[in-house]
Amino acid sequence: MTYSETGVGRTINRLLDEHPDLDASADGALDGLDQFHIGGGEAVDRLIAGLALSTAGTVLDVGSGFGGPARQIARRTGGRVTGLDITPSYVEAARDLTARAGLDGLVRFHHGDIAEFSPERPFDAAITMHVQMNVRTKTAWFAHIARCLAPGARLAVWEVCRPRPTDLPWPMPWSLDGTDSFVVSAEALRDSIEEAGFTSTEWTDETSWVRSWIDRAFGGGAPSRPALPMLLDDGYTRVINYAAALTDGSLQVWRGIFTKTSA
Ligand SMILES: C[S@@+](CC[C@H](N)C(=O)[O-])C[C@H]1O[C@@H](n2cnc3c(N)ncnc32)[C@H](O)[C@@H]1O
Repeated sequence: MTYSETGVGRTINRLLDEHPDLDASADGALDGLDQFHIGGGEAVDRLIAGLALSTAGTVLDVGSGFGGPARQIARRTGGRVTGLDITPSYVEAARDLTARAGLDGLVRFHHGDIAEFSPERPFDAAITMHVQMNVRTKTAWFAHIARCLAPGARLAVWEVCRPRPTDLPWPMPWSLDGTDSFVVSAEALRDSIEEAGFTSTEWTDETSWVRSWIDRAFGGGAPSRPALPMLLDDGYTRVINYAAALTDGSLQVWRGIFTKTSA
C-alpha cells in the first residue's frame, strides 16, 4: 500500500540531527524534504496569488502530506492554514516540522478524510497538490472540498494528468504498483472539478515549466541535504520514474484556479 511509511518521524529526526546547520524555521530550508510534489516551493508560489486571500484569510490544504505547502502559505500570507491528511504518520511529521518552524500558532493538521471533515467555519480558500491521483470518484471528492468553502472561495490545484492512456513505469510517488492510481486527462479532471461546484478561473499546462524545474533541481545529481526520497519506500525510483514520465510526455502537470460557484 502507498503512503504506508510509519517511520517518517524517526527518519526526519535523524536527518535533521545529521544536519545541525539546517535551520528548520528558515523559509525554504526544508523544501527538498517537505514538499511532496514536483516543483517544490516554487510550485506553491505559483498557486498562492490565485488563492486571492485577503489579510489573515483561512486556507484548507487537502492531502497536506508533510506540511511544506501549508507552512509556506502561512509564511507568505500570514493566514491560518489547516492541513488534512489520511496518513497518520504524515500528520505527526507535519505537526513536528511545524513546531520546529515556530508556526504552530498559524498552521495545524488534522488526521482524516475530507468526506467526514466538518469545519467550524467555512474556509476562505483551499489548495490541493498531487492528491487526486489516488481518488477514483473525483467529482464527489471535490464536492466535499466545495462543502468546506465559503461562497466565492478559490481552490488552487497542482495536479498530475495523463494526456493519453499509456503504460506508466511503477512505482510512482503516489502509487507503488498502479492499483491505487486514477490519473485522468486534463479535460476530464477540469470537468470533474467544475461538476463538483466550481468554475474554472485558470487552467494551465505547466509541464514545460516542470521540466525546466527538474533540470535545475536534479541537474547536480543526488542531493547531499535531507531530501524527500529519503522518507519514502523506494523513494528514488519513484521520483526518477515520475521525472522520466514527465520528460517523455506520458504525464503532465496542470495548475488550476477555480472559484466556488454556489453556496
Ligand atoms: C503526493 S502527497 C502530496 C502531499 C502535499 N500535498 C504536498 O504537495 O506536499 C499525497 C498526500 O495525499 C494524501 N492522501 C491521499 N489520498 C487522500 C485522500 N483521499 N484524502 C486526504 N489525503 C489523501 C496522502 O496521505 C499524502 O500525504
